[in-house]
Amino acid sequence: MKVVHTFEEVRDLAGGRIGLVPTMGFFHEGHLSLIKAAAESTDTVVVSVFVNPLQFNESGDLDAYPRDLDRDAALAETAGAQLLIAPADSYMYPRQHYTRIRVAGASDGMEGAYRSGHFDGVATVVAKLFAGVRPDVAFFGRKDAQQLAVVRALARDLSFPVEIRGLPIVRESDGLALSSRNIRLDGEIRGSALALSTALFAASDAFEAGERSVAALTHEAATRLGTHSGVETEYVEAATARDVAGVETIEAEVFLAVAARIGNVRLIDNVHLNPGTGLADRGVRLSEPSILYGGP
Ligand code: PAJ
Repeated sequence: MKVVHTFEEVRDLAGGRIGLVPTMGFFHEGHLSLIKAAAESTDTVVVSVFVNPLQFNESGDLDAYPRDLDRDAALAETAGAQLLIAPADSYMYPRQHYTRIRVAGASDGMEGAYRSGHFDGVATVVAKLFAGVRPDVAFFGRKDAQQLAVVRALARDLSFPVEIRGLPIVRESDGLALSSRNIRLDGEIRGSALALSTALFAASDAFEAGERSVAALTHEAATRLGTHSGVETEYVEAATARDVAGVETIEAEVFLAVAARIGNVRLIDNVHLNPGTGLADRGVRLSEPSILYGGP
């Protein structure tokens, strides 16, 4: 695998069907599941690692974001990537850069309401990656369900010739959704973080037992979250997976999402509820502790 820093190098080296996995690095098994899926279905897997300043609305969060390019390169190679592009901030955003992309609709509400400008930053950097790498397929996690909807709308509206694939959430064996931010959860706080998935699984059980009222399902999840000390809930909301539209009764695929602060760490999680099958998608679980805690 080769580590490069410019789109020109990627285009020189990549051949065949190109799969892109956009990331901000500090890999865990969630990222690796995307790289493996890309390796299974494309000829050249390009992983991007770029902590995108444009999508952070708290400078403390940007500064605290974990970074380790050597570790990421080793893990990406093992998972099946051929190229890793780690562009410099000054390459992605030279002094004169004026264009911002805003995906109306999907960016509003939920994360968009709590993180002003966040999805404009995501849409802008993803558009640059699509234009620079020119992938045939791009892989995203359902962990960021609203981001996935924003990216699908972006690709469609701007006619990027790329297929967008969404993959299941990877969780610790106890249910905690993997996130690079989890390494900042220690001691008691780690236990409180489990409240997010526990609340979502309770609502999933109610959905699978036949409940279709969004008010009832969000109430179930919010009540469970509220009983945990150390958890400051920001929202518990459901929206259609396709356009992030509000719903009262679940008639199309919906994601039920929560955001909460545990100490100074902000976490998000969701489950997808499919009325066609009557099943909730709770993601997949690791059998071992994540590589985040001391793997290579
Ligand atoms: P990052 O948080 O590094 O995530 C990169 C990709 O990994 C995203 O598609 C995200 O949904 C996926 N992912 C994260 N945790 C996951 C988990 N537990 N299970 C499955 N997939 C998971 O998302 C971003 O970076 C950025 O916003 C980016 C799209 C790269 C734009 O800067």
